[in-house]
Amino acid sequence: MCIPKTKMTADAPHFQIIRDIRNTLGYLKQSGCTGFDCSRASLETLNQLGLPAGPGVAPDRETLADIRTDLGDCRRCGLCESRTHIVFGEGSPNAQVMFVGEGPGFDEDKCGQPFVGAAGQLLTKIIAAMGLDRETVYIGNIVKCRPPNNRNPEPEEIRHCLPFLKRQVAAIHPRVICALGSVAARALLATEAPISRLRGRFYEVMGIPVMPTFHPAFLLRNPEKKREVWEDVQQIMKMLG
Ligand code: URA
Repeated sequence: MCIPKTKMTADAPHFQIIRDIRNTLGYLKQSGCTGFDCSRASLETLNQLGLPAGPGVAPDRETLADIRTDLGDCRRCGLCESRTHIVFGEGSPNAQVMFVGEGPGFDEDKCGQPFVGAAGQLLTKIIAAMGLDRETVYIGNIVKCRPPNNRNPEPEEIRHCLPFLKRQVAAIHPRVICALGSVAARALLATEAPISRLRGRFYEVMGIPVMPTFHPAFLLRNPEKKREVWEDVQQIMKMLG
């Protein structure tokens, strides 16, 4: 009997169901539920089962560590000249929610972690208000090196960096992405539309729902916009169930 040599991809329904189970258990663990086996070991086992593997099956999902290794001491664009640290991103590789900002600022460049300055502290509060914490979500940026004087990243810089973020999205496969601010929303959704028009509804990128909302730094300058952000993140919470 011949077994067809079709390549099973990470999108095959079987693997998607396993990833859904893993995400549900991850969510239960995050919610403090103890009635199920939500241990790290079980989640990791499901993580592995959720990948195509075995004879004749090409492993087509790379890990965050693979992507970090490939990024190396990146010199693909001019931002490398003035950076102190590459800010790769941080959080859980099993995150159900991924937050994507614009690019590192002064504090992030100094310590190599995303969203640690004033805007980051507000983001941490927003995450907490959603009933989550920074360790169980994943936080990344459109560009991984600080643009000088916190200017917006140039299209050429985004062109070099965005593929790495997309590979991180594919590796994590979150249930939902929250795009923080206009640079993140426009880059992810490949649009020129203003954030004020984009925010408040879901789009789809790589099969994953994306909710654009205002950037926390914008909220620090315009606190009256917090209500809109709260409405947007409530939609995310509703989607997570
Ligand atoms: N603003 C961003 O967009 N990203 C960070 O990491 C910090 C501030």
